[in-house]
Amino acid sequence: MQSLTIPRPDDWHLHLRDGAMLQTTVPATAAVFHRAVVMPNLVPPVTTVEAALTYRAQIMAEVPAGVRFNPLMALYLTADTTSEEIAQAAANQHVIGFKLYPSGATTNSAAGVKSVEALAPVLGAMQEHQVPLLVHGEVTDSDIDIFDRERVFIERHLIPITERFPNLKLVLEHITTADAVEFVKNANSNVAATMTPQHLLMNRNDLLVGGIRPHNYCLPILKRQSHQQALQQAALSGNPKFFLGTDSAPHVQASKETACGCAGCYSAPAAIELYAEFFSQHNALDKLADFASGYGADFYQLPRNTETIELVQQPWTVAETVDTATGPMVPYWAGADLQWKLRG
Ligand code: DOR
Ligand code: ZN
Repeated sequence: MQSLTIPRPDDWHLHLRDGAMLQTTVPATAAVFHRAVVMPNLVPPVTTVEAALTYRAQIMAEVPAGVRFNPLMALYLTADTTSEEIAQAAANQHVIGFKLYPSGATTNSAAGVKSVEALAPVLGAMQEHQVPLLVHGEVTDSDIDIFDRERVFIERHLIPITERFPNLKLVLEHITTADAVEFVKNANSNVAATMTPQHLLMNRNDLLVGGIRPHNYCLPILKRQSHQQALQQAALSGNPKFFLGTDSAPHVQASKETACGCAGCYSAPAAIELYAEFFSQHNALDKLADFASGYGADFYQLPRNTETIELVQQPWTVAETVDTATGPMVPYWAGADLQWKLRG
């Protein structure tokens, strides 16, 4: 049997939710990843260091005995975020950065930012303290087509931000377009991007052809195939600016399979195997280790993990559903096959 050993990976973009859902989401991610950047889009949002530490303790309470897991907390940036909060965040090893959600862009983003321009003082403080800005890069204007929202956000907001704050550490999360790849490639070395399994493995045909597939619906939405190919090339190129961030985003089945379904793919139960599938499809499994376990840590100036995991070439089928305390959930890739499996 073919096998592949890589350093233990980290997930640089993850939704765990709170309450009873943590009983499902925390063990699933901690079984594979050592660190994870935990998104703050709870209700109410996690806007302060104090709230993030309370949330982190709830997460740690669900880590199975004997498992080492280190959640790195992202705080929710709002119009009220102060420079003092940024200084506090910079001084706390459990806080990794601030997440910018344009108001209304996605799940639980009502408290998000309405004017990116008004953030200038806060972004200045983040640059000064070297606190990373994590960005959901989509405009929300009703006159902008949903498939263009990432490109327009880059033009209107990200290019001006990087010009004005050239030393700001910035991660454009879950990129979906050739425009985002170009922006990140051309920016300074302090600008990087995360990539999800679904945006590497799928395009909008997988969402819409032959019927609407709600479990492939996430935001930013899957784009046309040429964009998918641009992302694939970026990941395969071995450019250290592009690294793993699953954006695994749990929603129960009833919230996905409905007339107005939630955005998000729960990829945690098969996360590393999905990325292995992508690299294997392109005969580039040798690129998995740096993408999953190296470049993200380097970007955040954290040590690379020294433990390892082993993947074996052993076809298996992702479960149709995952039971949670709040009802069944359909994972991403449910009922479909993968060629590589985590050993153990
Ligand atoms: O599809 C998504 N789901 N995109 C996001 O940005 C948020 C996430 C969620 O929280 O469900
Ligand atoms: Zn996300």
